[in-house]
Amino acid sequence: MNEFIHLQSKNHSLIIKTARVPEVLHWGAKIAQIDEDLLLSTERPISQARLDVDVPLSLCPELGSGHFNAPGIEGHRDGLDWAPVFSLVAANQSGNAVEFTLRDDMAKLELTIELDLDFDTDVLKKRTSVKNLGDSRYCLGKLSSTLPLPNHANELMTFHGRWCHEFQTQRQHFEHGGFMQENRRGRTSHENFPGLFVGSHGFSEQSGQVWGFHLAWSGNHQMRADVRSDGRRFVQAGELLLSGESILDTDESYQSPWLYGCYSNSGLNGISQRFQQFVRENIVKFPVDKPRPVHLNTWEGIYFDHKPEYIMQMASEAAEMGVERFIIDDGWFIGRDGERAALGDWYLDEVKYPNGLEPVIEHVNDKGMEFGLWVEPEMVSQDSNLYRNHPEWVLGLQGYHQPSGRWQYVLDLQNEGCFNYLFERLNDLLTRYNITYLKWDMNRELVQPGHQGRPAVHGQTMALYRLVDELNNAHPNVEIESCSSGGGRIDFEILKRTQRFWASDCNDALERQAIQKGMSYFFPPEVMGAHIGPDECHSTNRRHHINMRGVTALGGHMGVELDPVKEPQAEKEAFSRYIALHKQYRHLLHGGRSFRIDPADKNQNIYGVESDDEMLITVCQLAMPDHALPSPLRINCTDANTKYQVKLVEMPQTSFQLMKHRPKWLDKTLTLSGDNLKEIGITLPILDPESALIVHLQKI
Ligand code: DGJ
Repeated sequence: MNEFIHLQSKNHSLIIKTARVPEVLHWGAKIAQIDEDLLLSTERPISQARLDVDVPLSLCPELGSGHFNAPGIEGHRDGLDWAPVFSLVAANQSGNAVEFTLRDDMAKLELTIELDLDFDTDVLKKRTSVKNLGDSRYCLGKLSSTLPLPNHANELMTFHGRWCHEFQTQRQHFEHGGFMQENRRGRTSHENFPGLFVGSHGFSEQSGQVWGFHLAWSGNHQMRADVRSDGRRFVQAGELLLSGESILDTDESYQSPWLYGCYSNSGLNGISQRFQQFVRENIVKFPVDKPRPVHLNTWEGIYFDHKPEYIMQMASEAAEMGVERFIIDDGWFIGRDGERAALGDWYLDEVKYPNGLEPVIEHVNDKGMEFGLWVEPEMVSQDSNLYRNHPEWVLGLQGYHQPSGRWQYVLDLQNEGCFNYLFERLNDLLTRYNITYLKWDMNRELVQPGHQGRPAVHGQTMALYRLVDELNNAHPNVEIESCSSGGGRIDFEILKRTQRFWASDCNDALERQAIQKGMSYFFPPEVMGAHIGPDECHSTNRRHHINMRGVTALGGHMGVELDPVKEPQAEKEAFSRYIALHKQYRHLLHGGRSFRIDPADKNQNIYGVESDDEMLITVCQLAMPDHALPSPLRINCTDANTKYQVKLVEMPQTSFQLMKHRPKWLDKTLTLSGDNLKEIGITLPILDPESALIVHLQKI
């Protein structure tokens, strides 16, 4: 076996030392060649009053060899074999990927560690499997993926949130101790997005060394970043297994979810561009390669009040505005007049739709739009025929009462009868009607996730993937949106089988600026559902002018979430204008490289997208400007001599309260070269709080 495994991508190197266990020596900038003395030059001293031997921080750290922080594996065999110590038996490298096999012959366990460094994007993925080689059952408590970081990675950026307040970020020192996140909600969750960043002190959007991580899993998870007392540090993530959730029979294996990671020496932009490119090339699959259609979703427009004639009127108005896909949200199925009943009864409500759904769909199609439908397959209302007929299909623990959430319960997808019923219902809807899009909701947590008495979040998550996969196979042209109360199930693994996220139930444009920024570190704009809502936001009661709402929605996968029939003419014209603007730049927004600019004014959010020929930059004034005059917008153009035509394409059209006289260039097209734009910048107008502008740059 070689002393080193060297995986190389376009810009980066991952060097792993292969001794008793594999240990990462370097993950970062590309190393041209491994010097002969590298082994010697990286040998660690042994400190006083510690163990007498060196303890590697391996790819799966072990308690049994003296790693006193979180081990990579935990478990036991009826109280025995709880501190395994592995030895490397094979390392098979194939191109940029390697698979290590390790064995503990005493504990009778075999570990497989897979690492794959994607050449084009520099994104590393890692997962670990364990196989029980013993002849008794092994109760696995934990199997995580560990990746060490250098000591100058001393600042942490993590995510927190809640419903309507997703993807919020927090910074902390990462010098001693650490950070730990445990998600037991049974879905990816609004609260615990499985991602974090560690970087050199003060890393920002545009500068600093950063390592980014995302665990691709839609169930429970555990994610931590730890600094050992010797200064070595690591990130570790994996599925959170409930007590007794994974019991391996002889020769049975457990495989962890993929942990994705990547390095950047150009701040968070370098990470998000790599993750976004990786998602485009390896994660999301669109059935047809076409522009992402602009949506109108009926939820906030009519809620449960479904009248087909009226919905057709909404569709006509939507088509007028330039909408390309019309989605009927919750309220279309039998008995669904409010939140408290009918989930599970996936049959059309013929009282509401006496002529069937067909006339509505035909109308939508005649107006040149696709048709989509809302479903929440994993759920059942207590007041439903499904519950009355199959109370035993509820995911729960017999003998205990479990609280409902939104007056509903979760169905046990591992129950074959239940799984088949759901497949049959969804398959029937997709076969019967011309539906090309499903908005797949999931509005509650798993409180007692029991299948036949045993903990079952893992099984439930795998069964969900299977259900979506089988539907995808049966209806390959149907796209699916992962909604989950908006923002509750956003991760790479669900995105392998869906095409869009409803990023948040909060349509407040100001809140959305933060939510969408947080999400943009991992996901490209074309999968981020972003809708214009009515001027008074339903989730916050805050009012925003259409400029702020239009600009904020325009940057994602755009849609409209309101009743167009009731909107004033001026608003409708504005919706059309923002939809047209979105379509004009959709090729760039949904295909270019996204970036964020470190603002001199902390009350601004500046972000953009670039291709080889053009750039679109949004400046959003989140709150009162920090100073009386705005700082210049300095744009990071790679080529100093290239000339650009610079043009304002959007700014508030109402009167300006803070600005008496506007810079003349706002009404002109400027010609500026890369170094002028980068080093001197463009002087901005003074924006009032909660307003935004967009600038377009075209290479000449
Ligand atoms: C929660 C979703 O996030 C909303 O967009 C809407 O679809 C409702 N559920 C419907 O019940």
